Amino acid sequence: MNETQAQTVQVSRLSDDLAFLDIVTEWDITSGYHQWKPGMVVPRTFMSRDTLHRVYAVANQKGGVGKTLTALELALAMVARGKRVRLIDADPQVASLSSWIPVFYPEGVTDRRSLTDVYFDRCTLAEATYPTAYAGLYLVPSFPDLATVEGDRPTGAETCLRYHLWDAGNDDFDVTIIDSGPSLGSLTVSALVAAQDVIIPVQAGSGLDIEGAAALYQTINTVTTRMNRDLRVAAIILTDFTRSKLARTIGAEMAKAFPESLIVPTRTCIEIGNAQLEKKALRQHTPDATTVLDYDRAAGVLLNGVTH
Ligand SMILES: Nc1ncnc2c1ncn2[C@@H]1O[C@H](COP(=O)(O)OP(=O)(O)OP(=O)(O)O)[C@@H](O)[C@H]1O
Ligand SMILES: [Mg+2]
Repeated sequence: MNETQAQTVQVSRLSDDLAFLDIVTEWDITSGYHQWKPGMVVPRTFMSRDTLHRVYAVANQKGGVGKTLTALELALAMVARGKRVRLIDADPQVASLSSWIPVFYPEGVTDRRSLTDVYFDRCTLAEATYPTAYAGLYLVPSFPDLATVEGDRPTGAETCLRYHLWDAGNDDFDVTIIDSGPSLGSLTVSALVAAQDVIIPVQAGSGLDIEGAAALYQTINTVTTRMNRDLRVAAIILTDFTRSKLARTIGAEMAKAFPESLIVPTRTCIEIGNAQLEKKALRQHTPDATTVLDYDRAAGVLLNGVTH
């Protein structure tokens, strides 16, 4: 099926009786393996953003930790809540978000706009935004030439997205989610300068990801001090989560290191590769996967907070 023949998919709310994560205020690692139930840590201080347009950057310079999956699943969960959502693919790699979900480019137009054109001032962000197969979800695609932004450093690269999202006029989106590639170069910095909230996926089974998150945190601190005082780490996503002692310990460490952030385990799922092969989001491919429920829960709290 080519892009123009792909059907539009309506994204609906999930049924309330599924096995969603509990909301907890503390990460418990003391209870026994079988009694332990994964919960999502929502600190008492956590507040959802109270702005008409919310901008999230999904970032971690380590590759393959679940950034793209996180961006897409959160986006669809927000679409299901009635939001008009734009994803920005800020990763120059070939197999990125732009090749995962079907995008509806206008028929007969060979000159497809992408994020590169926005950085080089050849079009506006709105002109590079296309509908996708999911009703309510839009994408600013990227192609491998986006790597030239890192190499050629067009003037103002680091403030480009901020300008387009906040100063260049409102193009009527409730939410923008920027998916970054595995680097801390100007594309990722540009996403952090534009965002209000950073979402950091880390692999629940990798002890090294704690160190990686520390390097990212330094970059976030620099951006916060010099360019974007509003920025905060809204959530740590523990991807590919199993209830192993290691994963639980990493969760507890993250909760200590980020006491103001949501700590969200997203449980492991074997269908992700198949969903990618079929060019479907996991939420469409396996809607009852616990991973989908976990992202759905996280999206609800990011948008609306919780009452403790
Ligand atoms: N909940 C999960 N269960 C099982 N596997 C997972 C889960 N989350 C992520 N993964 C695995 O991690 C892989 C990489 O995910 P993804 O492409 O989202 O990472 P990424 O951080 O965007 O990578 P890159 O840095 O290359 O952009 C997935 O294809 C999947 O195999
Ligand atoms: Mg990715």
